[in-house]
Amino acid sequence: MRGTPSATIVDEVEALKREAGIAACSFVRSGMILGLGTGSTVRYTVLEIGRRMVEEGLQVKGVPTSEATRHLAEDLGIPLLTLEQADEIDLTIDGADEFDPDFQLIKGGGGALTQEKRVAAASRAMVVVADDRKQVPVLGGFDLPLEVGTSDWKRVRDELDSICPGMVRLRGGQIPYVTDNGGYILDCEFGPTISDPGKLEELILSVDGVVEVGLFVGMCDAVVMATLSEVLTIVKEDGRLN
Ligand code: 5RP
Repeated sequence: MRGTPSATIVDEVEALKREAGIAACSFVRSGMILGLGTGSTVRYTVLEIGRRMVEEGLQVKGVPTSEATRHLAEDLGIPLLTLEQADEIDLTIDGADEFDPDFQLIKGGGGALTQEKRVAAASRAMVVVADDRKQVPVLGGFDLPLEVGTSDWKRVRDELDSICPGMVRLRGGQIPYVTDNGGYILDCEFGPTISDPGKLEELILSVDGVVEVGLFVGMCDAVVMATLSEVLTIVKEDGRLN
């Protein structure tokens, strides 16, 4: 069965996500306002926060980064604030599609990049939860997501063709994926070439019609990464958690 991951591999990856998601809760303290990320790894963080609230009396409030996370947190009884209601967010915990040695990220695989970036930007610190498949020397192996306005996507795609060396695809194709903001996502095939994500972010944001780009530069302060043998917490030397 070439090309299809076996059930064992799927189970192993799920176990790694769970381990990383739960381990990141070591950063959480009572009284914190937490940015709650989106995705299948940070889902375990949110579940663990919910468990600790019930079983250990942890008291936190959350700022969700997507409708999916808002629903999950509500089901768990985590009190929520909107970004506008939260004066400042103590810590955001979120997943990533890739992270490089400088703690720069590609995010947006789950389509929530715009709100994820707003919440991360309003946070005193950000911790990423991931399994070791997400660790890369250079960003770009994962197609870079951009959020675009629904009436702008064709023009943005055409303009991106001169910036992106590979294909630029509308997520969902004939039935486009629609974000929580009512936008579309373009997935851009850069390949592992993004050595200066800050510069590329600036260039892409200068294209009219781009709402947000899934490059997170200077935002992540630590990565909690699960490998088959251990869970590593890698803290950025000059980051805000040091
Ligand atoms: C959503 C994201 C996710 O954090 C990213 O896609 C990682 O998700 P997962 O933990 O499911 O692999 O950026 O927009």
